[in-house]
Amino acid sequence: MSHNRKVLVLGGAGFIGSHTVVELSAAGYIPIVVDNFSNSKHGIMDRLSKIIGEEIPLFEVDCRDLAALNGIFERLGEVHAVIHFAAFKAVGESVAKPAEYYVNNIGSLAHLLMLMQAHGSRNLVFSSSCTVYGQPDLLPVTEDAPIKPASSPYGYTKQVCEQLITDTVAAQRGLRAMSLRYFNPVGAHPSGLIGELPLGVPSNLVPFITQVAAGLRPKLSIFGGDYATPDGTCLRDYIHVVDLARAHVAAIGTLERDTRETYHHVANVATGTGSSVLDAVHAFERATGLTLPYEVVDRRPGDVEAVWAAQSSSPQLGDWMALHSLEDAMRDAWRWQSMLNENPL
Ligand code: UFG
Repeated sequence: MSHNRKVLVLGGAGFIGSHTVVELSAAGYIPIVVDNFSNSKHGIMDRLSKIIGEEIPLFEVDCRDLAALNGIFERLGEVHAVIHFAAFKAVGESVAKPAEYYVNNIGSLAHLLMLMQAHGSRNLVFSSSCTVYGQPDLLPVTEDAPIKPASSPYGYTKQVCEQLITDTVAAQRGLRAMSLRYFNPVGAHPSGLIGELPLGVPSNLVPFITQVAAGLRPKLSIFGGDYATPDGTCLRDYIHVVDLARAHVAAIGTLERDTRETYHHVANVATGTGSSVLDAVHAFERATGLTLPYEVVDRRPGDVEAVWAAQSSSPQLGDWMALHSLEDAMRDAWRWQSMLNENPL
């Protein structure tokens, strides 16, 4: 079924994109990476070739560049599916640089939708986020939960992008789209060759933990110990990036099976388990045998108290299920961090 089917992966050198390239290739698709390396390193491409056993075609292009993207579609001929990862994703930075986030995240999707229509490419998988739910009224969250006012420009770009896809589907026959609402992606490929590569001080929990354990930072600051949760720290649904990558292959499978003319599905991609920040610290300690220095400090502005999903599967993703535990993710994240210290990119 998947033989010889080209999948264009915008942002394919990034954290989730690179893991998805591996899973696409394993499923028999031909992944083609488009990336401008604004939040990655060129060395990731060599690492990908090592894991996959062959070179991955790369177009070093900024996805805001309509003419360059058009040139890629022209060169490739038939593109079976497009996965759009290419976006800025730091919540705090989005507050400081809203215009950059709006132009990059929304502009690149708008260009892509025009080009897909022009070139008759029908299947789209879009990177959305559980941030669209804000602090949900009901936990755990299902796809029917209402979209809440966004708490950051980043969150707002995800909401606008989902709406843009819905509007495009309504206006034009032929587009089949799936927005995947990721919960908290963590972990790394079990080979230790690819993983999350924060530039500068990590704002996300797991890269911060692994950098503390590696001695690159003195201790973890836990943001808030007075939330109305069992241990006072925030609750999140941490999903292993390999499970998340497999969800993209499953999403393409759904788009292939559901042959209706046009639609936009949304799917949560999560484990169905809420874990606290302290649970995450303890999972890391169990997985590695290390002790992690930490202190509880003030809350971080903009953090929601708790968000986790109802399921480790989704009706829109066929028989896909999240298979890995938080401890698995911590073990893989630590392997990646340790190997990176020895062999920097
Ligand atoms: N945390 C700490 N210390 C740190 C970093 C994080 O205690 O040094 C805590 C946060 O307060 C939060 C939890 O760890 O309770 C997870 O924080 P992350 O920054 O790793 O992730 P977020 O839940 O804030 O954000 C993630 C994605 C966003 C997405 C959001 C939706 O990074 O892209 O989920 O909820 F929008």
